[in-house]
Amino acid sequence: GAPLRIAIAGLGTVGVGTVQLLQEHAQTIAMRCGRPVEVTAVSARDRCKNRGCDVSGAVWYDDPVAMAREAEADVIVELIGGSDGVARDMVAAALKAGRDVVTANKALLAIHGTELARAAEASNVHLTYEAAVAGGIPIVKALREGLGGNHIRRVYGILNGTCNYILTTMEDTGRDFDDVLEEAQELGYAEADPSFDVDGIDTGHKLALLTSMAFGCPVDFEAVSMEGIRHVTAMDIQHADELGYRIKLLGVAEETEHGILQRVHPCMVPKNGPIASVEGVFNAVVVEGDFVGRSKLEGRGAGAGPTASAVVADIMDLAAKRGAPTFGVPVDGLVERPTATIDTH
Ligand code: NDP
Ligand code: HSE
Repeated sequence: GAPLRIAIAGLGTVGVGTVQLLQEHAQTIAMRCGRPVEVTAVSARDRCKNRGCDVSGAVWYDDPVAMAREAEADVIVELIGGSDGVARDMVAAALKAGRDVVTANKALLAIHGTELARAAEASNVHLTYEAAVAGGIPIVKALREGLGGNHIRRVYGILNGTCNYILTTMEDTGRDFDDVLEEAQELGYAEADPSFDVDGIDTGHKLALLTSMAFGCPVDFEAVSMEGIRHVTAMDIQHADELGYRIKLLGVAEETEHGILQRVHPCMVPKNGPIASVEGVFNAVVVEGDFVGRSKLEGRGAGAGPTASAVVADIMDLAAKRGAPTFGVPVDGLVERPTATIDTH
């Protein structure tokens, strides 16, 4: 079939990983989608930077918003980041121009997801975000499709690779928090502002998206209570160990008698439970459904390769015309649910 033309904005950790995957596996991708995928346009801040990938065949745009509107592309891929500013403007512009959008930007969708999903519906296009939640783990697809027949009672897990990398490396090596955080930044795991990782905000963004998918309600990031890992000390980790526990930053969304509770905080998890063995940059998501029981998905939650894997999965779905509504059902089908708080719980 005719190639699917894509335009990529953002050539950092995730953007470069995505270009490399598309190039390295071009034949397999074409075979699996029934058509090739071609990168026809790219945008980033610095045109002269050596990026370690070949985008010489693509048209360069200094302005991602102009690219979103004008590029010869069927799909616009947003890999810049940030809940506002250029990322939001370019996604809105692409949807308005009637182009499908793929993004890895959980901050954007946690805050403006409903409005953007509505814009996608108005233009009869798709807005997809598998890479935004738990990196390489296909949890968005799993909730929407594989587990779609269940009534979900609870979804929880380790949703931030940087924090899990910090906690497990501190535990294994006794190294300092700041030192390990710096390493996570060098490895491309952390957000541009790493306080989003360590203060639990990034986990909160992802949890808000999971909650919408799992419980069929509009995304409500303001309802998430959040505490991060800044105050966890080597001594806390050691005490937990002596008691048979490990400390993990968890995001938990559950149905309670008072409504939907969404919380992010460090937890003591038993060493023999489903979460304790998750090490380093790995994430794990546990879904509890009425028919399936408890399912756990585990995999790398951050970094170029795993995130590119999820971005390309969304691109391939669009190439093969397997689009779905952003949050599983059309926006008007999402049902507001009461918010439970830790106090009411
Ligand atoms: P990087 O900081 O590595 O890359 C950001 C890219 O955006 C850079 O290429 C930068 O250009 C470009 N950019 C920034 N501002 C502008 C602008 N105004 N106009 C054009 N281009 C711009 O970020 P990541 O690749 O790590 O993250 C990208 C997105 O993916 C974020 O939403 C992040 O939350 C998400 N994500 C990241 C994961 C990871 O493991 N890193 C995992 C899952 C999601 P230049 O290079 O020229 O400076
Ligand atoms: N900063 C994020 C993390 C990237 O460490 O999990 C993946 O979303």
